[in-house]
Amino acid sequence: MSLSIRQIHPVFVGEVSGVDIARPLTPDEVAAIEAGMDRYAVLVFRDQKITDEQQMAFSENFGPLEDARGGNITKPEDKRLQTGMNDVSNLGRDGQPLARDSRVRLFNLGNMLWHSDSSFRPIPAKYSLLSARVVNPTGGNTEFADMRAAYDTLDAGTKAQIEDLICEHSLMYSRGSLGLLDYSEEERTMFRPVRQRLVRTHPVTGRKSLYLSSHAGAILGMPMPEARILLKDLNEHATRPKFVYVHQWRVWDLVVWDNRQMMHRVRRYDESQPRDMRRTTVAGHAATTAQV
Ligand code: OGA
Ligand code: MN
Repeated sequence: MSLSIRQIHPVFVGEVSGVDIARPLTPDEVAAIEAGMDRYAVLVFRDQKITDEQQMAFSENFGPLEDARGGNITKPEDKRLQTGMNDVSNLGRDGQPLARDSRVRLFNLGNMLWHSDSSFRPIPAKYSLLSARVVNPTGGNTEFADMRAAYDTLDAGTKAQIEDLICEHSLMYSRGSLGLLDYSEEERTMFRPVRQRLVRTHPVTGRKSLYLSSHAGAILGMPMPEARILLKDLNEHATRPKFVYVHQWRVWDLVVWDNRQMMHRVRRYDESQPRDMRRTTVAGHAATTAQV
């Protein structure tokens, strides 16, 4: 059976069938998936029983993996997964749910805020690929918002106002909004703010999108409260239900999204029970501030 993609939301999101991602892909399959990503921005693959090695190999069809350093507060000796895998589970090395007061758990709750992966890096991520290994019994849906539709539906005045604005993004802004304000000197250096355009253009399709993220906490040349209000307004607009797809996970789903044109968040779930989700991240090519 050959690869096909069926749109499953009125605005975006495709479901892919006819491919086994545990095996090496043909160049035609890779091209079809990339074209699907450019068009639908989120692709859902069902029943993909993969190992971490197979997930990394599949991801590398779309570019080199991002270096995960600097993106979390988990110490190397506490890591559950090998280099190349981002652990977005609620589990510790012992395979048990993290304690309620675990700093790692509290930091990871930031994934419940709307964001784009790695917008806190100078060159932010291209794709994220998330594989469901253990699904939580209550909640834990992941939601995606189409930032192209969000941009397209802004009024002309707002588009003109924001066209050339540059935001500062940092993990300290997203976590700070949750009340996590204490960081070591080392963490402060690691999390120093980076600059991102507020309106970005997709390198393949040329479509513009709003580049929002919970990590965005300031706008250059704008008083802070004014910047925060503008960002809040834009976020509210961008995450209206008609632009949002809600993914209800089944075990062995793999969902791929394009961080250059999407935001996402996970919803609350029963943290006394495991939720084992494993992400690979394909590195981006260029800084958004380098865009012409
Ligand atoms: C991520 C993320 C959401 C989830 O992997 O980048 O935000 O559903 N995860 O766990
Ligand atoms: Mn994320």
